Formats: sequence, C-alpha cells, structure tokens
Amino acid sequence: MASSNFFLLTALIAFGLNTLGISVTTNSSPRFVFPRGLIHFQFNPNPYNPTVAIAALSSQNPSAITITNAVFGSKPPIYDDVLAKAFQVDKKTAIAAEPSPLQDFCVADLNSAVRVNGFACKNPTNVSADDFFKAAMLDKPRDTTVNKVGSNITLINVMQIPGLNTLGISIVRVDYAPLGLNPPHTHPRATEIFTVLEGTLYVGFVTSNPDNKLFSKVLNKGDVFVFPKGLIHFQFNLDPHKSAVATSALSSQNPGIITIANTVFRSNPPISDDILAKAFQVDKKIIDLLQA
Ligand SMILES: *[C@@H]1O[C@H](CO)[C@@H](O)[C@H](O)[C@H]1NC(C)=O
Ligand SMILES: *[C@@H]1O[C@H](CO)[C@@H](O)[C@H](O)[C@H]1NC(C)=O
Repeated sequence: MASSNFFLLTALIAFGLNTLGISVTTNSSPRFVFPRGLIHFQFNPNPYNPTVAIAALSSQNPSAITITNAVFGSKPPIYDDVLAKAFQVDKKTAIAAEPSPLQDFCVADLNSAVRVNGFACKNPTNVSADDFFKAAMLDKPRDTTVNKVGSNITLINVMQIPGLNTLGISIVRVDYAPLGLNPPHTHPRATEIFTVLEGTLYVGFVTSNPDNKLFSKVLNKGDVFVFPKGLIHFQFNLDPHKSAVATSALSSQNPGIITIANTVFRSNPPISDDILAKAFQVDKKIIDLLQA
C-alpha cells in the first residue's frame, strides 16, 4: 500500500531479546519518542529523496496495528453498518502492564505536586473507606441520545476512586441506544472482560499486523467476551427497537481510550490530508469529508 517498508527485529527472530523488553526497527540525529500505545505516523515530505529511520521499541515483540488495515482490511471485514456509524459517513462511502503494588494500598493523593507513574500515595493514617467507594449509580440507565453513535460510557477509574491507584483495575458501564455503537477503539493499558447485562450485541476485535484477523461474535444477555489489551475492538447493538447495557472490568486503574475515528480524523491540529489520503489510499476529498 503506502510507499514505505519496515524491518522489525523481535524475539521471534533474535532469541536473545526474550525477557529484555526491547527490540529494534531505522534520521541521523533528530530523536523523537512515540509513547506506548498511542497512534503515530511518519511521512517523508520530500517528493524526490527517500529517507530512512531506526527506532527502538520497548517490547521483545511490539506488534503493529495499522489503523487502515485493522479497521478497513480485517479478515473477515467489520460490518459496514459499524464502520459507517463509527466514521459518521454514509455506507457508500499498542501497550502496557501496571507495576505490582509494594504495599496493601496506595490511595491516590490527587492533589500531590509529586509526579510519578500513576499518583503519589496518601498518608495511610489518613485513608478511609470512602477512598475505596463511589456512589456511581451504575444500575441507572444513561442518556444515549447525546452522542452521535448512540452509546454512553461511564468509566470508574482512579480519578473517581482514588483507592484504585496501583491496583491495575477499573470498571465501566456502557449503554447502547437501539442500533447504538461503541465505535472501534483501543485501551492502550488494559485487557477488558465484557459482560452483557441486557440486549444483544455484535462485538469484535482485530489482531495486529500482518493478519488483521477479526474475531467477532453476537452476544446475548449474560454472555462474557474478552478484548485483549491494545487491540482495536467495538460493540454494536443489533436491535433496532431495544436498548442494551453492558459492564466491563479493565486491567488498569486508567485504561485510556483511543477512538480510531477521533484520533485519525479529528486530531487537534488535524493530520495532513496528504498523509491520510495516502494511508487510506483514497482521494483527498473523502479525507476532507471525514475530517469535517
Ligand atoms: C489528613 O487529612 C486532613 C484533612 O484533609 C489534612 O488536614 C491532614 O494534613 C492530613 N494528614 C496527613 C498525615 O496527611
Ligand atoms: C451520558 O449520560 C449522562 C447521564 O444520563 C448524561 O448526563 C451525559 O451527557 C451522557 N454523555 C454522553 C457523552 O452521551
């Protein structure tokens, strides 16, 4: 597809990299860091000269999820209903583990000036049951008419319950309007275990390059499904008349949500339409429509 080529050296090729958590892929001196799990790109703006770069990646097997391949080129394809709704167009048209706690708890001191990975701990003598509690009313239906895709996400993470700090877990309630969609997205820091409480949902996730294999299933009330950490996934309410509800546990105090349509077509400032037109192999007019 696009004019570029990657050589990735991983533990599958160089056994010595196993357990070292680093691998190598290749500008002379300028350095730039792409944080783990975030969507990124490189583009050679020179129309005449090729360019080359080397990158080190903090995993023995970092995997690549190319958005165009995973979203539009999965095998089998994701339903065009799901993609049309996610990208708000007509039908015609990576990843981390949390460090283990080294004490019983480390309740987040959300006001601390200390910057650490996560939050600094409150003095344990000052911790109370309320630090582990939130009257979140997760039993109550949410409004699914605000959002254009017909879903509403209520995430209870460390910002709502400071006691979750360092514990590597959080919970979410998702409400779906009839034909509502939770559009293709990833959680860069969490695996998700998903349970349908009410309704029928078509769900799926797509593996990293080169296979981009879609694993999908129709789930009914009571069914449980797993979305592996970092992989692009979605849920769609197949019922045109009834709403649906699900809940998930996520293996991070702050799983992060990267919604593909928003990160690719609605970034601030926008990614150049030259880059997106080449990546998706479509006319710039289509990109301008998606960015509108
Ligand atoms: C405990 O909390 C109170 C009220 O927020 C605060 O004034 C006090 O400094 C805290 N003590 C410790 C040891 O952190
Ligand atoms: C989600 O539902 C709540 C409560 O019903 C509502 O206040 C909020 O605006 C909704 N948010 C979105 C993004 O739909």
